[in-house]
Amino acid sequence: MTDTKYRPRRSCLYMPASNQRALEKAKTLPADTIIFDLEDAVAPDAKDEARKNACAALRSGDYGGRELVVRINAMETPWFAQDLKQACLAGADAILVPKIRNANDIIQITDLMEDLEASLDSQLWAMIEMPEAILKLAEIAALGTRKRLTTFVMGFNDLAKEMRAEQDRAIFGPVMTQAVIAARAYGLNILDSVYNDFNDPAGLEAECSEAKKSGFDGKTLIHPAQIETANRVFAPSADEIAAAEAIIAAFADPVNAGKGVIVVDGKMTELLHLKQARQLVATAQAIESLAG
Ligand code: COA
Ligand code: MG
Repeated sequence: MTDTKYRPRRSCLYMPASNQRALEKAKTLPADTIIFDLEDAVAPDAKDEARKNACAALRSGDYGGRELVVRINAMETPWFAQDLKQACLAGADAILVPKIRNANDIIQITDLMEDLEASLDSQLWAMIEMPEAILKLAEIAALGTRKRLTTFVMGFNDLAKEMRAEQDRAIFGPVMTQAVIAARAYGLNILDSVYNDFNDPAGLEAECSEAKKSGFDGKTLIHPAQIETANRVFAPSADEIAAAEAIIAAFADPVNAGKGVIVVDGKMTELLHLKQARQLVATAQAIESLAG
């Protein structure tokens, strides 16, 4: 099942669902997506309370048009079954499952979701953070064409730990490219990992720019101070919109009727660029309508 209707996911803010103050604050933050975390950011003793808080937040209707996602605990944990069931029944837009390893994990989870009649609308998002998942990106992504899976979320903190590698972004370049290719091959969305140093806006901006250039839809975030940067970088810039509009206008010009390739602004421009330009303008319009 693919998520056919485009919606902006420039800024996807995690918060521990055990933190009431953060849940309250999220109602007014300009993040496209809110991710209520039940996993890494919640201590074992607080798991039940966090689940209750997340479900209450989902049911409250207080989060406007923001997309609401719950990151549940991993399949092998004692919390997984209740997390999945309760979050689906409370109407989460998506369930984000960590520590996914292979296609069979996705099949098992979607089968459980199908059994919950009330969860028909919840998407499944997969954390890509285990070495095995990197080896099996294609087989996991392929389920996007017929299951609930719509979105990959990179998790480089866990992946570095599992690889026994350092937290150095350069190491993950090849993985980012492979993950984007796998996601796009099967129509999935893909979100970049978090930037831990929330007091370093320049570092965050550099990661957002790199991710946008690489094809990512947006970035997962950990602090409200990061939202503005992600919203700005992942939105088409004024220059990009102007260039796209120039391409659309050039192909609409009667002198170019029926042509497959023309010159716009000194550059070879083909019908594929027209398609790209239309997509960019549609993205900009979707972002604008969020604000409105
Ligand atoms: N979502 C919503 N609100 C948040 C927030 C978040 N992720 N992180 C901080 N805030 C709020 C705080 O509650 C505080 O609000 P207030 O001033 O109105 O009371 C304000 O933003 C400033 O917070 P600050 O004092 O700078 O941060 P902190 O020291 O309280 O918290 C972290 C720092 C990293 C612990 C916190 O940002 C956090 O928990 N982030 C998310 C962690 C997470 O979910 N990880 C899992 C995915 S990797
Ligand atoms: Mg993790």
